[in-house]
Amino acid sequence: MTTTQPTYVVIGNPIAHSKSPQIHALFAAQFPNHSAVEGFLYDRLLAPLDGFTAAVDAFAAAGGRGANVTVPFKEDAFRFVEGRLTSRASLAGAVNTLALRSDGLFYGDNTDGAGLISDLLRYSEIKQKKVLLLGAGGAARGALGPLKRENPSLIVVANRSLHKAELLVQSIKFGNSTELQYQVGSVGSMPLAEIQGQFDIVINSTSASLAGERLPIKKSVFAPNALAYDMMYGKAETPFLAQAREAGVELRVDGLGMLVGQAAEAFELWTGLRPDVEPVLQWMREQL
Ligand code: ATR
Repeated sequence: MTTTQPTYVVIGNPIAHSKSPQIHALFAAQFPNHSAVEGFLYDRLLAPLDGFTAAVDAFAAAGGRGANVTVPFKEDAFRFVEGRLTSRASLAGAVNTLALRSDGLFYGDNTDGAGLISDLLRYSEIKQKKVLLLGAGGAARGALGPLKRENPSLIVVANRSLHKAELLVQSIKFGNSTELQYQVGSVGSMPLAEIQGQFDIVINSTSASLAGERLPIKKSVFAPNALAYDMMYGKAETPFLAQAREAGVELRVDGLGMLVGQAAEAFELWTGLRPDVEPVLQWMREQL
């Protein structure tokens, strides 16, 4: 392969907006002259909507060693690896990172949940806290298992359509040992507008912010000194974080740190090197 061909890519459609190349270039620059990042070249790869497998095969044939996978291909990637999965990817039902094994095949991981957890832990403990997860789509599915492993006292999944929340909670309940369920305490589900109780950590995983929409949640869901966390991010305050501010929540965090965190996990998987997230996050914040 020639030196202009990337060894790592982020695959998506659309992909032009992706910040992953800058993030990974900054990570790699933290390890000058290290053999693990020798020839590390990271680029965007636009795959046709019906052409994920062909795009990855061509990338692999050209010497590709790893990939990040983003919208809308995380389920395609899950199927692509045919069971060569880490347990957290298996639990998430989606793959956001592909890495080449010594047998020449790609295996699949999901670093989104770990990225979320490492970012949450910068602001709050999770152990013994009451966690409210808003939304029950792909982003929530990736977060629930890793959240549960942090041993909060309670996780409630609340979703517009209750049935999806129930299915998600059931899949996590049955996907784990009884012992883990016991440690977590109770896991439940309820509709958005009827959330009962107060929560120490309220995480928005819905795509409502994308449409500029607010969520029909009561101000009282936020406990005193709660952390409000939005998986979305942007230059302007997200609608969910505006709601949290109006409810008097002081600790409000958007999902930029989760983005950088999931990238750091992938980088470590590929290179064995743990990058420092903080300067990259600061740089990203300035670029918004
Ligand atoms: P993702 O992969 O980003 O999680 P998804 O799987 O399409 O995307 O899930 C989107 C989530 O946002 C769902 O939980 C969805 O609720 P429904 O399951 O009821 O559709 C939620 N969502 C999207 N727009 C919303 C809105 N305006 N109000 C409340 N929830 C919303």
